[in-house]
Amino acid sequence: MPNITFTHPDYKDKTVYAVAGSHTETILKIARENKLPINFDCQDGECGTCLIKVTHLDKKTPKGGPLTAKEQTVLQQLGKLSSDDIEQMSVDDIPSQWRLACQMIVRDEDLLVEYGVS
Ligand code: FES
Repeated sequence: MPNITFTHPDYKDKTVYAVAGSHTETILKIARENKLPINFDCQDGECGTCLIKVTHLDKKTPKGGPLTAKEQTVLQQLGKLSSDDIEQMSVDDIPSQWRLACQMIVRDEDLLVEYGVS
């Protein structure tokens, strides 16, 4: 059962426990269910408003949750990923630390999610 700690420079950290069977839910959905003031707009991986920085906290190998082409494009436009980064992620099967909360599906791993980042 994953623990997800949400952190923001202006708010107290909050750790939530994603319930079993929730691994089809996005970080954005979990944040909203827990009343965390995470910014969002399109909810479709196009605007970049829900940018987050993700750190994997457990000792397991981070799961390389694949970024959709849409998410890759937006993260590149925001200057968070380069073409080289994308190629390296695919070769090494490692996830990006920069994600879009509306696109990232929670897996069974403990995460630190920084929101309100730019
Ligand atoms: Fe627009 Fe996530 S809310 S990209």
